[in-house]
Amino acid sequence: MKLFQCFISLQVFLPTDDSGVWTLAKMWYNLADSSYHQSVVHLGLTRLLMQMVVLALHRNISVSHPVYKILAPHTLYLLAINDFAFEKLVSTEGLVDKVMAIGRDGMYELIHNSSHEWNFSSDGHPATDFENRKVDDPKVLPKYYFRDDSLVLYNAIHKYVSSYIDIYYADENDVNNDWEIQNWIESLAVGHENGGLEGLPMKDGKGHVSSKEELKEILAIIIFTCSVTHAAVNFLQYEEYGFPANYPATLNTPLLKDKDPKTESDIIAALPNKEETFNMVTLTRILSERATKSLGNFETQYIYDPKAVGCVKCFQSDLKRISDEIRRRNKTLEKPYEVLDPVNIPNAISI
Ligand SMILES: [Fe+2]
Repeated sequence: MKLFQCFISLQVFLPTDDSGVWTLAKMWYNLADSSYHQSVVHLGLTRLLMQMVVLALHRNISVSHPVYKILAPHTLYLLAINDFAFEKLVSTEGLVDKVMAIGRDGMYELIHNSSHEWNFSSDGHPATDFENRKVDDPKVLPKYYFRDDSLVLYNAIHKYVSSYIDIYYADENDVNNDWEIQNWIESLAVGHENGGLEGLPMKDGKGHVSSKEELKEILAIIIFTCSVTHAAVNFLQYEEYGFPANYPATLNTPLLKDKDPKTESDIIAALPNKEETFNMVTLTRILSERATKSLGNFETQYIYDPKAVGCVKCFQSDLKRISDEIRRRNKTLEKPYEVLDPVNIPNAISI
């Protein structure tokens, strides 16, 4: 496969190389990056990961349970859109096989490897994730708006979840004795080897939530992943992939291995052909469409309890304030970062 050949190529390309060589080197690099983005960051660690959580939710928790009600708007349509993806996109000879160099098999291999390393409490929690990746300090890395907006939004989601859970659970005993919650977490925390997740709270070798704080964090991470994380990795697809020379998912000439000068014709020969370009532009245009209402504004109302409705209203007001702050900041930027303005974040993974 071209991508994996790329990883074993030891040539180091530099901006001072022949301009055709440097252009092709950047295209090959972006091909590797786009393969990783589509497979791991997008499909694997948002859509498929959350499918596991949502399936276990439906199997273990009643629709009348408060935890079901708070998660329901954020899990809407996920199973349906994933079913569509399995049928049309990542099926044998589906669109992924047609437009991506790694194809369906390469995509699954990347997802398999990365999901085996994913940890719920560290990779799912944005502050811990940024810290682990050493990108948490704005003095060292300023203008990293994905980080800045993510952290503010996670805090707002956690505050919302926290106020809601405090209504239904008086103390830790209420959590420990909630057998629906415990069955749900136990079924998820069976480890990667058994198709489950790592990093969930454990007791006596089984997944178990022992405190309100643990439950709040689990719910906040799920809502954050289904809304904020998915929005960040999904809705810039057309902007990135819409011009394949910028961010190609496939290239049609052999992997660049030497620095022999390259002409404009060599670059054109490498570019995706007309049909590949059309398919990729169409696909990423569709995938960049928003299909549900914005975060905190639910198309289906699951929450009727007046006290809980108060939590939703407070969440909406926090999101409005965050949106105003992001818009104020964006006015000062040459290229605004708008994808994590709450009005642009759908509640759920629905595309
Ligand atoms: Fe998506």
